[in-house]
Amino acid sequence: MDVDPEKVRALKRGEMPFYEPHLAEVVADAGQNLKFTTEYSEAIPQAHVIFIAVGTPPGQNGNPDLRYLESAARSIGENLGSHFTVIVNKSTVPIGSGVWVDSLLRDAFERNGSRGGFAVASNPEFLREGSALHDSLYPDRVVIGTAETTTAEVLYTLYRPILEQSFVAPRYLPRPEGLQAAPLISTDLASAELIKYAANAFLSLKISYINEIGILAEKVGADIAQVAKGIGLDARIGTRFLQAGIGWGGSCFGKDTAALAATASDYGLDMPIVKAAREVNSRQRQRVLEKLLSELHTLKGRTIGVLGLAFKPNTDDLRDAPAVDVAKRLIERGARVKAHDPIAMERFRKENPNSEVICCSTAEEVAVGADALVLATEWPQYRDLNWEQVGSTMRSAIILDARLALDRARITRAGFRYAGLAERTKGAVMKERDVSAATISG
Ligand code: UDX
Repeated sequence: MDVDPEKVRALKRGEMPFYEPHLAEVVADAGQNLKFTTEYSEAIPQAHVIFIAVGTPPGQNGNPDLRYLESAARSIGENLGSHFTVIVNKSTVPIGSGVWVDSLLRDAFERNGSRGGFAVASNPEFLREGSALHDSLYPDRVVIGTAETTTAEVLYTLYRPILEQSFVAPRYLPRPEGLQAAPLISTDLASAELIKYAANAFLSLKISYINEIGILAEKVGADIAQVAKGIGLDARIGTRFLQAGIGWGGSCFGKDTAALAATASDYGLDMPIVKAAREVNSRQRQRVLEKLLSELHTLKGRTIGVLGLAFKPNTDDLRDAPAVDVAKRLIERGARVKAHDPIAMERFRKENPNSEVICCSTAEEVAVGADALVLATEWPQYRDLNWEQVGSTMRSAIILDARLALDRARITRAGFRYAGLAERTKGAVMKERDVSAATISG
């Protein structure tokens, strides 16, 4: 159930409210097992397990806005059936919210005079947009947080086909080779809630760490891609989430790192590592402007083409998208910005009706008359553009690869001046004398 009638009407027609690979196929395959409604009274009374998956957008002082969670909890409490029901917090909620949701439900439940009883559990979500269904069916782990054995058993039964990998894999989402089971972490409410924040913060700082190393790599003449591989192959570190570039965006990392620091501060604690990860991330966006400035000497009056708007490929989500932020900063500096995204264009227009960004229907169109291009989202199709042709229509064939995703040799052959966000600068290696000085002082 969703309170938005337009969304529900669209879903009933088989239209998905956002872009996510295979979502329409999964919904179609579910057939009559999946019904959509705007009414709590239709969705709740017969349910044995209820997942709360409402938005928890950024609120004040880093804390998420919990008004949708509160409203959902109250309405669920008023509509609970006469059997035992498990209510699961899927939304990313501040630590301690499980207890709060329980009290909201209890108030409403008691006013309603229901008989069945209920329990609240936390079951944090770890899926990534763009590979949401893959991550849901083949998770690295499932985390269940509850104080009660019965509740844990209900959720274990629900997740069993995924934990044991005993379901028939959809033809469009084959099971990864060798995957036989997914581990279950069954714990208390607060631990489950903290796992979610601690995981997202760790991934964020992993990315910020490689971006910080990238800045040094640029100075000392090292290749950040090789450095990332060289450290990532240490199994204790791991190769994933070490892709340097413009930094992270999206609906989770920014919000969750802010919320984690805010929770810590409620307890009189500081979180310097998490805060530093946020600072490094924000600096990466500014570095795009600095790089452009060093290539073009001024931004005022320049035309900059931005390739990609979504916060990452395979989604049309623009929340905290680095590309959108950079486009805004460029416009503030007096540049003219043209942009393209294979999927997120329509959403961008809808969400930014007054934006001065010139929306183009192809990447080639973005390039016409541009002083420089910025690869802001690494959609695979951008790798294979006809770069000779693209460059020939630009005022100056300069590309800033802010995701370090393009084939530098190929693009340079096509006549481009290629700049990466962690680019090796010629002659940047310290002089021998300086190296020994650094070694001695180190
Ligand atoms: C994230 C978490 O990965 C997921 O577990 C959680 O449930 C929700 O938040 P999501 O925001 O969908 O998922 O995207 P993710 O793939 O994690 O990427 C987040 C951002 O980091 C993107 O902007 C991406 O471009 C960037 N990123 C990711 C990097 O810059 N480098 C990397 O190595 C990986």
